[in-house]
Amino acid sequence: AAQIYTIPVVIHIVHNGDEINTPGNVTGENISDAQARSQIEILNQDYRRMVGTPGGNNSTGKAVDVEINFVLAKQDPDGLETTGIIRHEITPYTDDIANKFEGGLNDGGADWENYADVQKMKRETQWDPTKYLNIWTIRMGGEKVEDDGLSDLLGFAQFPSNSGLQGIDVIGGSAATDGVVISFHAFGAWSKNDRSFLMNNQYSEGRTTTHEVGHWLGLRHIWGDTDTCENGDYCLDTPDATEEHYDCSQAYDTCLNDGLGNDMVENYMDYTTDGCMDTFTQNQKDRMIAVLNNSPRRVDL
Ligand code: ARG
Ligand code: ZN
Ligand code: CA
Repeated sequence: AAQIYTIPVVIHIVHNGDEINTPGNVTGENISDAQARSQIEILNQDYRRMVGTPGGNNSTGKAVDVEINFVLAKQDPDGLETTGIIRHEITPYTDDIANKFEGGLNDGGADWENYADVQKMKRETQWDPTKYLNIWTIRMGGEKVEDDGLSDLLGFAQFPSNSGLQGIDVIGGSAATDGVVISFHAFGAWSKNDRSFLMNNQYSEGRTTTHEVGHWLGLRHIWGDTDTCENGDYCLDTPDATEEHYDCSQAYDTCLNDGLGNDMVENYMDYTTDGCMDTFTQNQKDRMIAVLNNSPRRVDL
């Protein structure tokens, strides 16, 4: 039988001292344990293509079971028992992060990864990245500050270093900041009630983390981040595309000669809405498994 990898996860909930949210009373970024756990469930539904869940739909007919499981860590780096959910009250960081783009940012293209306070937050709270997948949930500010204080940026990740994979061998990130960062309002599955507090209901089903963990495991965007028709994601079974898509309301085919038909808007590595995504392909799986085979990020703790 094939080996199924299990990755221990630590979820760092970064907040500024707000009370922990309760059902029907979402006041900010200090999300509940249940909210955090719901994200682990979604990761498993998507990476295991679980039948009967949105991640099991296989609307493209090309979706595979990636055979990677995610579990909340049961032991912390000192070997002590843990829930895998850690809260950090870090007021200066969240304030700085929220204020960073007052009056400025207009899309998700800002270079968040390189902001000093985000880097510092990661370095100071990270658990050994060779043993854990570190996920941070934070409040990201943005041009929406005056409305609801939430950014259009939903999350960002680092590529693995030394993976030997085409397309990411040069740009892998430093171990000291390894992990993924997700805007709290896009983390986990939000109930209908609680969604009303949040902007962008169409990103309330947990697929931002599925996408960012895909990057963390070595996947590129399916359009390759260029406007040309080339195999920009180094996966021959994803159609080429010249741009990202933001909806599944119609068929797009930006590369007519790729022999693969329409752009795969249902792929987790496009930018479409959560409800539309349900596919990692075999070639994407091959890349992710290659990363795990070349890195120690698979210790079952
Ligand atoms: N890095 C992308 C962004 O922040 C994530 C896109 C996630 N897409 C989604 N449907 N949840 O815009
Ligand atoms: Zn991305
Ligand atoms: Ca095509």
